[in-house]
Amino acid sequence: MSDDTDLYRYVSEMGAQWLSSQQLPAGGRGVELKDPCGRAVWLLQGQARVDPLPMRASLVRTTNTADHTPRLNQTVRTAIEPAKVTKLGHVVLQTLDFPRMSEWYMRVLGIIPTDVQYLADGSPNLAFCRLDLGHQAADHHTLVLVGGIEEKYEHSAYEVLDLDALGQGQQVLRAQGHHHMWGIGRHLLGSQLFDYWHDPEGFEYEHYTDGDVFTADVETFYSPLDFGGIWAWGDDAPASMKPQKNLRTVLRLLSLIRRKLITPQRLKLLSAALDAPARPWL
Ligand SMILES: [Fe+2]
Repeated sequence: MSDDTDLYRYVSEMGAQWLSSQQLPAGGRGVELKDPCGRAVWLLQGQARVDPLPMRASLVRTTNTADHTPRLNQTVRTAIEPAKVTKLGHVVLQTLDFPRMSEWYMRVLGIIPTDVQYLADGSPNLAFCRLDLGHQAADHHTLVLVGGIEEKYEHSAYEVLDLDALGQGQQVLRAQGHHHMWGIGRHLLGSQLFDYWHDPEGFEYEHYTDGDVFTADVETFYSPLDFGGIWAWGDDAPASMKPQKNLRTVLRLLSLIRRKLITPQRLKLLSAALDAPARPWL
């Protein structure tokens, strides 16, 4: 949280609990809130900072293109090394209660929906949200909320320096036998060049570079939700990114309908959005 954020208000008005100094990873102060779906959300302030790790210069300024050749009499030889992460870029959460969750995060954290996608009946179901940094550049999305059939961490994404860092990082992870999931490709909303991996426990992680940034005054853009709309080019998204069509999912859906957590109409709209063909022009 910014230095001028009044954490006391979260305690007095929203029932946030102060974190003890033993809980804080880097000093400062912080409070814990619960979001509408019961996740713990920590708001931290005044944490100690460390110096950035050394990083080579980005290759972008010396990238040759058909109409501009700044790299003259020089080659591209980047080191074969793990992609150095410059920051945690965003987190994606799936939720059963998209309206309440998106309202809560906008109100409590002041996040701005950059891109909102809606189902065929016009109801919003996915929001790419950025931080309100005023006139400073903020990533297209820092928090993404997507309506679905379970409360689930989808993935977290880590920014790397440039495309060569992404590609060399992929080589290293492959050589070490890690489980590649998707990429390299370019996202549509957010525009990042992406590369997705599974960790040994099956959690999803993304390395990315070259994402969009916006100031706070850019208006929200609305578009219809379809699964094919999450990438501009690259391999098709793996089936593992969608709910698996198996008995477990059927039982889960029946239970959700019985507990009135989702309606059959909404399920139908969701499934139409997920099953929309990725490349209708082919
Ligand atoms: Fe992502």
